[in-house]
Formats: sequence, C-alpha cells, structure tokens
Amino acid sequence: MIYAVIAAGGIGSRMGNLEKPKQYLTLNNKPIIVHTVEKFYVNSAFKKIIILCPDQWVSYTNNILSKHLPENDRVVVIKGGATRNETIMNAIRYIESTDGLDDETVIVTHDAVRPFVTARIIDENIEGALTYGATDTVVPATDTIVESLDKQVISSIPNRSNLYQGQTPQAFRAKELKELYESLTEEEKDILTDACKIFSMKGRPVRLIQGEVHNIKITYPYDLRVAKALLDEGNAD
Ligand code: CTP
Repeated sequence: MIYAVIAAGGIGSRMGNLEKPKQYLTLNNKPIIVHTVEKFYVNSAFKKIIILCPDQWVSYTNNILSKHLPENDRVVVIKGGATRNETIMNAIRYIESTDGLDDETVIVTHDAVRPFVTARIIDENIEGALTYGATDTVVPATDTIVESLDKQVISSIPNRSNLYQGQTPQAFRAKELKELYESLTEEEKDILTDACKIFSMKGRPVRLIQGEVHNIKITYPYDLRVAKALLDEGNAD
C-alpha cells in the first residue's frame, strides 16, 4: 500500500517571528499546506494522506483541511516529531499500528511547504520506490558548490556536473527505512538529518527523480513572494 506523508512538524523559524508556522500562511486564497495536500489528494494511488504537524496545531490543521477539502476521508492529521526524521518515523509507526507494515508499504514523504510539486514527480517517486526501494527528487546544481571545512578557506570545489540540489518528495519502502533508522546510534541520527542519506550511508541505492526548478521550498519571506508570483503567472499550480 502507498501512503503520502506530509511533513509539517516544523515551526518555520527562518521565516521570522510568526503567529503561526509558515505552512499555515496564506498563499493567494488558501493556506500553503492546503495547496500541498491537494496535489496528493487527487492521486488515487494513496490509501491515506498522513499529515504530521506540531501537537498544538493538530486540531487547527483538521479544521482548515475540512474547510478547504470537504471530501477528506483519506486524510489523517497526527503529531510530528522533534526532527524531520522523527516526524517521518511517527508516520511509519502510525501505519504500522493501523494497517501493518510489509515489504510493499511505500511512503512518499514531502515537505508541507513545497506546494508546487507536480503529478509527474509524485508518480515517478511511487514507481521509483517500488522498483529501487528509495528515491530522491533533485535538480542539477546551478551554482558552483564550494566546500570549506573551516569556514575560512576553500577545501574543495566538487565537479558541478555530478552535483544536484535535493528537493522532495523522497519515497521509501517504509519497513526498510524503519529498520535502517532503528539501527543508527543517537550520534548517527544527529548527523543523518536527511532520510535518503540513511539509505545511501547504509549502501542502499536511492534512485534520482527529476524535480522542477519551480518545486521550491518556502523557507524565507522572499520565497513566499516568489511563490505568489508563480501562482499569479500560472506557471505552477
Ligand atoms: N518538519 C517536520 N518536522 C520537524 C521539522 C521540520 O515535519 N521536526 C518539516 C517542516 O514543517 C517543513 C519541512 O520539514 O515542511 C522542511 O523543513 P524546513 O523548511 O526546515 O521547515 P522548518 O523546520 O519549519 O523551518 P526552520 O528550519 O526555518 O525552522
């Protein structure tokens, strides 16, 4: 079975002092998180769309989703975790306790604050996870990436043609992700902040899925302005 896992457990500190986390800010006529959930709701491959948000925002999230998505029988809102990976683990634990986990259980994890994901990207992540076990959505790096280990001088400049920028979705066979995550020490958990990194560090293949430049993550106030412009121009919906 296939599940969408919408990670909305953060507070959006880089967005500045907000009365609510950034995923609830309005983008044109509806909250960012509603734009995002809609992209998954229209895909009938998903048995459930599991949304994970801070504990104190669960009932608020249920309210806005009922208002904007009246036919929301496949949508479930539960609390997220202290880190993004813990948020994903909460989703896997929920699936395990309700439907059980098997080798065919796939989760398509996505940032609640990436409202411009496309149907193609979602479909290719599902396909990729079923075939390879894990996927990561990426676009080729546009800027040259410079590495500095001491924050003072350049240590290396990796060849840009081998570099990509990570987006989401990232999709996984859920049982394998849980087993790999549980095998990590607390120290490794602190370093492996990206769920795909857990797979690749353990030598498991992660298939690349071609993202889109407009599949932006809303992180800073500037990104909100870009998102509004994209919607107004009809370049992304
Ligand atoms: N996220 C999550 N659980 C956490 C932390 C983050 O589900 N414990 C989610 C966020 O809600 C967001 C996505 O992961 O949709 C990407 O993270 P980011 O943009 O870093 O969001 P925040 O953590 O909210 O932002 P900031 O780092 O500025 O506080």
